[in-house]
Amino acid sequence: MTRPLALVTGASGGLGYEFARLLAERGHDLVLVARTGAPMEELAQWAEARHGVAVTVLPKDLSHPGAGGEVADELAERALHLDVLINNAGFTQLAPFAESDEQVMMSMLRVNIETLTQLTRRVVPGMVERGSGRIVNLASLAAFQPGPSMAVYYASKAYVLNFSIALNVELEGSGVTVTALAPGPVATGFQARAAMEDARLVKGRKLPSAAEIAEWGWAEAEKGKPFAVHSPRWKFIAFTLRFLPRRTAARIAARTNDRV
Ligand SMILES: NC(=O)c1ccc[n+]([C@@H]2O[C@H](COP(=O)([O-])OP(=O)(O)OC[C@H]3O[C@@H](n4cnc5c(N)ncnc54)[C@H](OP(=O)(O)O)[C@@H]3O)[C@@H](O)[C@H]2O)c1
Repeated sequence: MTRPLALVTGASGGLGYEFARLLAERGHDLVLVARTGAPMEELAQWAEARHGVAVTVLPKDLSHPGAGGEVADELAERALHLDVLINNAGFTQLAPFAESDEQVMMSMLRVNIETLTQLTRRVVPGMVERGSGRIVNLASLAAFQPGPSMAVYYASKAYVLNFSIALNVELEGSGVTVTALAPGPVATGFQARAAMEDARLVKGRKLPSAAEIAEWGWAEAEKGKPFAVHSPRWKFIAFTLRFLPRRTAARIAARTNDRV
């Protein structure tokens, strides 16, 4: 019996690591992609020994132009056909736009948007041909409003949300579903990477674990939903934001992004 195959980007830590663990537990072979090889190799050994699944580790910088195509080429060379694609790699920086690091900003756009889009473009036709597939794109609660001090990140997640919903509708009836996940803040290395632990949004708050969010996110994806917002509180906020003037919504985000 052949096992389903799932590719997870950003599988070296945080949410991607937990998605990979969960999918291994549920009998998926895995392709793991991120820059840092060691945690993915460890995960691969654990998954192979514990769950008898096959794991391919592809260390890769997804901020390079064309990285999504390169990953797809590697899959084609190995004759690997994906049943599940988790476009999870992503990051932010917290800084006023005029003071933000330009290189980091451009890398962010490539990882959060360009690579995600290119990899999806290369994977969808095969899924459609085979009549089944699940694509999960990590958006964020940030997708629902403009976010001063993280303007590019928030806008990148709005792209991921709208891109995913459009594709979900386009692919209706094909057997392929695309789901954007919108968690609020999650306890991962994300905040430290962005040096934003002192932002009002996260400081002193108890955040859900990456394992909890991966479990929730996969359950939502299995329902084939176009998008899902985590927790009643964030659902209420995402819903309410639709009725506020956009500038008011941006001012609320500016306050939550303040360093305190
Ligand atoms: N944590 C939150 O509060 C939160 C909330 C909402 C949405 N999200 C979204 O969830 C996703 C996962 O975030 P996380 O919280 O798990 O963050 P994380 O713990 O910082 O993990 C990010 C992952 O992305 C990978 N990555 C970053 N830059 C990369 C690059 N240039 N090339 C390849 N891989 C790269 C990292 O691997 P390497 O460094 O090894 O390359 C790592 O595996 C992101 O899209 C994020 O925007 C997070």
